[in-house]
Amino acid sequence: MLRKKRIIFCSRTVGLTFLSICLSHSLWAASLAPVQSPRAMVVSAQHLATKVGVEILKRGGNSVDAAVAVAYALAVVYPAAGNLGGGGFMTIKLSGGIETFLDFREAAPLASTVNMYLNAEGQVIKDLSTRGHLAVGVPGTVSGLEYARKKYGSMTRKDLLAPGIALAEKGFVLQSGDVSMLEVATEDFKKDSDASTIFLKGKKPFQVGERLVQKQLASTLKRIQQKGEFDFYQGQTAQLISKASLSGGGLITLEDLAAYQTREFKPIECNYRGYRILSAPPPSSGGVIICEILKILEPYPLKEWGYHSAQSLHFQIEAIRRGYVDRNTLLGDPGFHVNPIAEILSPERIEKLRNDIKPMTATPSNQLLPPRFVNEGENTTHFSIVDQSGNAVSMTYTLNDWFGARVMAKGTGILLNNEMDDFTVKLGEVNHYQLLQGRVNQIQASKRPLSSMSPTIVLKDGRVAMVLGTPGGSRIITAVLQTLINTIDYDMNIQEAVDAPRYHHQWVPDVVFAEEYAISADTQDKLREWGYTIKPSRLANHLAAIMVGGSRLSEIKPNSSALFGANDPRRNTGLALGY
Ligand code: DON
Repeated sequence: MLRKKRIIFCSRTVGLTFLSICLSHSLWAASLAPVQSPRAMVVSAQHLATKVGVEILKRGGNSVDAAVAVAYALAVVYPAAGNLGGGGFMTIKLSGGIETFLDFREAAPLASTVNMYLNAEGQVIKDLSTRGHLAVGVPGTVSGLEYARKKYGSMTRKDLLAPGIALAEKGFVLQSGDVSMLEVATEDFKKDSDASTIFLKGKKPFQVGERLVQKQLASTLKRIQQKGEFDFYQGQTAQLISKASLSGGGLITLEDLAAYQTREFKPIECNYRGYRILSAPPPSSGGVIICEILKILEPYPLKEWGYHSAQSLHFQIEAIRRGYVDRNTLLGDPGFHVNPIAEILSPERIEKLRNDIKPMTATPSNQLLPPRFVNEGENTTHFSIVDQSGNAVSMTYTLNDWFGARVMAKGTGILLNNEMDDFTVKLGEVNHYQLLQGRVNQIQASKRPLSSMSPTIVLKDGRVAMVLGTPGGSRIITAVLQTLINTIDYDMNIQEAVDAPRYHHQWVPDVVFAEEYAISADTQDKLREWGYTIKPSRLANHLAAIMVGGSRLSEIKPNSSALFGANDPRRNTGLALGY
């Protein structure tokens, strides 16, 4: 658990303005030290999957090999988010120079239509885009992992799937974090015959210490081990997925599966205070919007203003607010839409947005409504890996909600995603993450929904300095952003930066969501005076981060390859481990 210490500084010369002069900082007196290892490091959301990654690295596999093995293992030991039935992104930086990004996000089935979740009166039908087979996009994970392995890995499919198969076949002993995750979906598991057999024990939730065995999933993984993506997209698994979808009211045909392709793009990049940030391009909004916000903030002396002072929070929130307007209205699948990335990140536009921010005054979000927008009406997992040669992989993949659409492809042991809800289901209405999105993200056949997933790698002088990412839906962007600011502006060590309490704003709703201890009471009072609405926030993210060469950026030694791993304490299943 985090330890906290509240320190209050008050000036005696206060008079009427007592509140604004009496500063109360909630300080994290100490985080645990980051996990340190000399050669290689894996941080993932489930301890057994982390160990699988470390074993692969010890056997001489590179970061991409380890990522593939970790991803297949997480599909078994972290079924709420680890997956075969979902999709994701991988940002890769190889020590030889390659910097690339793999997009294996789910695609809308060919029979999808713009209004597929609306009734005859044009209203959204409750739960249709979030639960059941119609919510499911064509999965991309197996395609992405195979693409990564063949192009950038060095080990065989047999070796990389073996640990996941063993965990599925022999089972693994559930700890309290695993059990509480499964309990989230007990009622939905009861409604799906395969899910109730696999994820419940005699119709009741599993208990701590019991073993979760997944025989069907083991068989599916073995077929993939033997036949690769062919099995998943054209073979027996494809048949079973399509059959389950069509008989369950979904749209996924064999043609949809056969047509699925991983796409490779250049990462989005920007410089922030001497660090080069590589992150996710569309169909993620993450990289573009993180860069946009950082560039708006760059001239401000955040360090001098103080960590989470009213002044520094004000400018951060205003930059974030403007970033999310662009996220929600300008970005979409690059296969369907020309994303105005150069314009969003142009110095002129950045300066214009910055000049629009007034000191000590919140801009009401409805004043930032873009022209033509008016009438328009958790769950994921991230892991970070650095290997013995300095190759880095930052990967986020997801079923969207915990356990996705809460349905399985019968006979496969595969839980299916509900990624279709990341589209604009109806103009003018918010989605599961309260995101109000626009036309460019409306549903079209084969299109991939806009994402916030932001697997990120930070470079200093061409060398990897940091690898990071997180789940959290719309809160991914602000969590990655704050971890960058915590390390770059405030020189926190990597564990402190991950632990530090966070806040979130996403333009709509016009609310600052603050984790406990993120903003002191009198700083909140001051922000309220400036026009902000502040509400308590649930813990939404689970960062997995690695720093290379030092535990904080100011201490990085250019010749050191020591690795410092930080697992977010907000979820108790993860592990940072190296060798
Ligand atoms: O792609 C996205 O932005 C979402 N589907 C991610 C969902 C997520 O992070 C859920 N985790 N809490």
